[in-house]
Amino acid sequence: MQNKNTYKNISIDGPAASGKTTLGEELALRINYKFLDTGLMYRFVAFRSLLDGIDVNNEKAIVDISNNIDISSFDLQKGEVYFQGKKVTASLKERNIDSTVSLIAKYSLVRKILVNHQRQIALNNNLVMVGRDIGTVVLPEADHKFFITATPEIRAKRRFKDLLFLNNLSYEEILYDIKKRDSIDISRKNSPLIPAKDAIVIDTSEMSFDISVIEIMKFLEVL
Ligand code: CDP
Repeated sequence: MQNKNTYKNISIDGPAASGKTTLGEELALRINYKFLDTGLMYRFVAFRSLLDGIDVNNEKAIVDISNNIDISSFDLQKGEVYFQGKKVTASLKERNIDSTVSLIAKYSLVRKILVNHQRQIALNNNLVMVGRDIGTVVLPEADHKFFITATPEIRAKRRFKDLLFLNNLSYEEILYDIKKRDSIDISRKNSPLIPAKDAIVIDTSEMSFDISVIEIMKFLEVL
């Protein structure tokens, strides 16, 4: 269980491509908090596993990789991830990672290791932390909790627009990937994707980015 600390923590959870990361980054910037996208941690484990040619079913080897993660690889200001001195953030968002990350994120030991790191960071920073299980499992005592969602079709449309110049995935392929990842994340035994009971749920299907930011800021007046 998280020790109550002197720093303030805000959790933002939600399904794939719900906009939670962009919203979290903007929020952190506005209120001068640090920012941690925990999805990048799971993606980093998937990236290192693929790099070492490790099969996704080889739980032990994937746990070993998780154990060797250096937390300073994750920059809490700009949201970049470094490996061997190089920025690898863009590589973590490629389709081969998309299709393995949710399988890796099912392993309870992998989650335990990464959650320990995440709690440590939260204990030492005013922090906006983004993920799937932050309000429910990682920081159940967070000062503010949000759950950002939107329909799968809207999320796929947004991601399609973001990726337009980066790869040639079709809208249909992106929608398929998103639905598949949602289904693994929602149905897994360990820390499934669900809103915390005390989270404020914001459906951004019909909202512009700016309006979503205003919506969140409304709840933070007391900070
Ligand atoms: O950016 P996007 O919403 O597409 O995904 P992400 O936040 O980068 O997360 C990638 C994957 O990591 C998710 O589909 C989950 O399987 C896993 N994840 C998780 O299990 N727990 C978290 N706190 C964050 C991510």
